[in-house]
Amino acid sequence: MIVNEHIEDYIDSLDRDLPDELDRLEKWALDNKVPIIRKSMQALLRFLLKERKPEKILEIGAAIGFSTLFLEHYAPLADITTMEKVEMRLVHLRENIKDHPNIRLIEGDASDKLKELSLNHTAGYDFIFLDAAKGQYMSFLEDIRKLIKKGGILVTDNVLLEGSIAESKFSIERRDRTIHKRMREYLYELTHCEDFETVVLPVGDGAALSYFLGGT
Ligand SMILES: C[S@@+](CC[C@H](N)C(=O)[O-])C[C@H]1O[C@@H](n2cnc3c(N)ncnc32)[C@H](O)[C@@H]1O
Repeated sequence: MIVNEHIEDYIDSLDRDLPDELDRLEKWALDNKVPIIRKSMQALLRFLLKERKPEKILEIGAAIGFSTLFLEHYAPLADITTMEKVEMRLVHLRENIKDHPNIRLIEGDASDKLKELSLNHTAGYDFIFLDAAKGQYMSFLEDIRKLIKKGGILVTDNVLLEGSIAESKFSIERRDRTIHKRMREYLYELTHCEDFETVVLPVGDGAALSYFLGGT
């Protein structure tokens, strides 16, 4: 937990109830240990979706589709493209989104699928939600730049790695050092490049909100 647990619990207690379908899915995910967006990230996304009213959303990392359906619920007019690669998640995801024609599922590794999308000139996403393998964020960024619309928002989840991002690499377990290094590179790039304006927030497991100013 990044924020003091009492404070996080208090903030979460202010959250309004989820619609029934999402509530059921959230419970199922938690019971089955599927990692999904936390309440605080839900509140942030809901705020952004209502304020920005995106028309074209790209999600990278759908798991069983909780966040996908959440995005759809709060941006009902948007076309949503989502990516997921793991079959044990896809089995549930396909079922959960089957009656939602505005959600298009791209199955496979986002490293390849983002490239294919950008080569097909499928650009113009005004809202991108990145919630996949944390070690890959940096390698996705080049394609994200090609896919996001000028003025669009990129929301990246889990950027503070449960707080360990702030620790020296020497205190990080050897097996986690690559992710730690890559996430630091990703955050440095987002906060120092010319084409994104980024704020990093201690929300959930850390959220980076990046506003795309356009190519240089
Ligand atoms: C934290 S979960 C996503 C949770 C989901 N966004 C939610 O809140 O309901 C991350 C998901 O990203 C998927 N994933 C990780 N790396 C990926 C990649 N390179 N391409 C496609 N999916 C990926 C994983 O299989 C996993 O289901």
